[in-house]
Amino acid sequence: MKGIVLAGGSGTRLHPATLSINKQLLPVYDKPMIYYPVSVLMLAGIREILIISSPEHLDNYKRLFGTGEQFGLSFSYAVQPRPEGLAQAFVIGRDFVGADPVALILGDNLFFGAGMSELLARAAGRGAGATIFAYHVENPQAYGVVSLTPEGRPTRIVEKPRAPDSTWAVTGLYFYDNQVLDIAAGVRPSARGELEITSVNEAYLQRGQLAVERMGRGYAWLDTGTHDSLLEASEFVRTIQNRQGLQVACLEEIAFLQGFIDRAQLVARGELFAKTAYGQNLLRLAQEC
Ligand code: G1P
Repeated sequence: MKGIVLAGGSGTRLHPATLSINKQLLPVYDKPMIYYPVSVLMLAGIREILIISSPEHLDNYKRLFGTGEQFGLSFSYAVQPRPEGLAQAFVIGRDFVGADPVALILGDNLFFGAGMSELLARAAGRGAGATIFAYHVENPQAYGVVSLTPEGRPTRIVEKPRAPDSTWAVTGLYFYDNQVLDIAAGVRPSARGELEITSVNEAYLQRGQLAVERMGRGYAWLDTGTHDSLLEASEFVRTIQNRQGLQVACLEEIAFLQGFIDRAQLVARGELFAKTAYGQNLLRLAQEC
């Protein structure tokens, strides 16, 4: 299975100057925001990852991640010339995806919760169709919203409804079989001029091939779209890390535990960052495991 991280420039309500940096490179507490979505793909067992960003920012990601071999991954890079919607990721990424299934995650989405690996494995293991993740939110009108039967089957999915009839928001993490390439290629721009991921999910719903996993109370799905939510996400990560003495979204740690890198590679990375808590954590892990 392949993975795509879309780190575009659209939709941000942060100070316009942050656009010159690209939001997904801003830190959430102690590491770049994009580390969090990359960690989710790694937990799903995905090792081939395409980063899509705007023309002016793509080089920053290349500098940040390079080939990805330090995490036992293989990174590819592609440009989204204009922010024309999430579904465009599959038009841009068509050759990269090839004949495989693919997961898409948004570069500014942060997920945290016990049982995450099992949840992801279930989605990745589903042979045909699509899996989306629903999260109970206070402000569904800001998101794609899915209506569910009491058994959890989807009946309707609407992008940013004015009067939502469900409180289940669709998170920015999607698992698709290979049909997604043709479905996305056929999507027409919405009223806001974007190729909506909701249109792709609707197509799967109409085919009876859309599975919805509810992320319950034990999960955090955090937004980073406003100054407040960005700071809240940083505080969340700081609180958990300081309390547990464990890292959230430490890519080297996940790579080691997943068997993507060996102990020597882990130690080398730990030594590189030895002056930080992040590096110390890697060195400790290499000793403990
Ligand atoms: C996008 C999707 C929306 C989804 C959200 C998750 O919204 O269109 O369906 O709920 O991501 O973060 P946008 O970021 O374009 O406002």
